[in-house]
Amino acid sequence: MATVEIVPSVLPADFSRLGEEAVALEEAGVDRIQWDVMDGRFVPNLTFGPDVIAAVRPHVSVPFEAHLMVEHPEELLHRYVEAGCELVILHAESTIHLHRALTMVADCGGKAAVALNPSTPAEAVRDVLDLVDMVLVMTVNPGFGGQAYIASMEPKVAQVAEMIAASGHAVDIEVDGGISPKTIAGAAGAGANILVAGSALYKDPEGLKHAVADLRERAEAAYSQRAGSAA
Ligand code: DX5
Repeated sequence: MATVEIVPSVLPADFSRLGEEAVALEEAGVDRIQWDVMDGRFVPNLTFGPDVIAAVRPHVSVPFEAHLMVEHPEELLHRYVEAGCELVILHAESTIHLHRALTMVADCGGKAAVALNPSTPAEAVRDVLDLVDMVLVMTVNPGFGGQAYIASMEPKVAQVAEMIAASGHAVDIEVDGGISPKTIAGAAGAGANILVAGSALYKDPEGLKHAVADLRERAEAAYSQRAGSAA
């Protein structure tokens, strides 16, 4: 059974103190940090360039992942690996040559992952499972934090899990968008072992550490129950 991981999206963080915010997330017990990279074209928002991530990199030791919500990701994916992102997530919808783009991530020393927007079927990743360490199933339409969880994506998570099991490749499933104490069990119970949360972490009145521990406990309970029933 894969390890459950809780991964913060830093979109809700204080951008004037990103280094300190990353330290606070590491101290709160997150497993990695996700950087939501947006180009204003693939999604209607603009966020982090590689230099911002490189500036934060020396302040913490947790792994970084870059979620590239950009057009033509081939043109800049290498810069996010160079900035210190161990994993680079490409959207299946963002390039004509997904297979080649994922191979480019590995060629420049990174681990590759593929993301699916809500309207993109699971089939889109069937033929690249040998190239990725992770499949990300979006449970919001990408571009902004604080959106409502799209529960109708849960069957897609389960379908991706079945495809991965049939492929024989060890591939994690990540879910991102609207994850909260109320929604995380549905995502983990469908088969996601890596859960991204932004607003839910920062909204917890008891602070980041409590939020991370609470989400982890809920996810582990649901994920292990599913694994138990699937056995
Ligand atoms: C949306 C981003 C998500 C989002 C998560 O485009 O990819 O990571 O910020 O934030 P919450 O958890 O607030 O939905």
